[in-house]
Amino acid sequence: MSESTQWLDTGKPTSARIYDYMLGGTQNSADDRAVGDRLNAVAPFRRMALLNREFLVKAVRYLVTSGVTQFLDIGSGIPTAGSVHETARALDPGCRVVYVDNDPTAVEHSLRLLDGTTGIGVVEADLRAPESILDHPGTRAVLDFEKPIGLLFLGVVQYLPDGNDPAGLINRYLTALSTGSHLALTHFTADNFETEMAAAVEFFAGTAAPMFPRDATAVTALFGGLELVDPGVVFTARWRPEPGGVGADDPDRSGHYAGIGRKP
Ligand SMILES: C[S@@+](CC[C@H](N)C(=O)[O-])C[C@H]1O[C@@H](n2cnc3c(N)ncnc32)[C@H](O)[C@@H]1O
Repeated sequence: MSESTQWLDTGKPTSARIYDYMLGGTQNSADDRAVGDRLNAVAPFRRMALLNREFLVKAVRYLVTSGVTQFLDIGSGIPTAGSVHETARALDPGCRVVYVDNDPTAVEHSLRLLDGTTGIGVVEADLRAPESILDHPGTRAVLDFEKPIGLLFLGVVQYLPDGNDPAGLINRYLTALSTGSHLALTHFTADNFETEMAAAVEFFAGTAAPMFPRDATAVTALFGGLELVDPGVVFTARWRPEPGGVGADDPDRSGHYAGIGRKP
């Protein structure tokens, strides 16, 4: 084990580090990998993680080419293996990003990885408290709220039960953003994926991160009054597929929906 990764082998497995393992990242420990392997045995999580990351890259490229150069990435995990800032800055080096996560270890990894990178903020906060993120000095120092912002909720809203009013929470973020801002969102679903998602829900039940997959109607409702960008809310592998894409073999069994909406 190298000196730079030794510190990883302290502490319990976390969803951000297990997710990093699924993506082929380096910010995970033997314990994280063991849980990841157990997860893969109950449902194809690696494929789902890769599909989700593929959408992240397509969504960020779409937003930058549409003139959005600022990003508020909520539930960001660990920014490795095709991160928002790397993807955005490959198109426009002036892009600015604020990464937000409520997991202190994800925040610590992010700070270590981004050390010295300008135009990027890292905020530890819970998305259920929108003002703590929107008004955070670390957010305001990086993002200009007078200009469009790409609000990213990728693979995170599924951790909120209906009682948390996810649509109402997302709307509170959107209210603070200017015209021309966009929401990009992915969300676990059991549609066409009943057996696998049931196993995943059971796996997470009783852990610190129980999951609440939603159907097409419920995921579409999260976009509220936004103008949906073509092709709308679809299985992740059906969102502007590219040759050789991860889910090309079986796009209707993605396990997530994905979509982008524009604030009019
Ligand atoms: C599956 S990962 C997704 C990572 C990244 N968004 C992506 O798509 O590649 C989910 C992340 O959401 C974070 N998360 C879960 N609930 C959260 C909450 N209430 N507030 C902020 N972050 C949360 C977890 O800590 C984890 O890092």
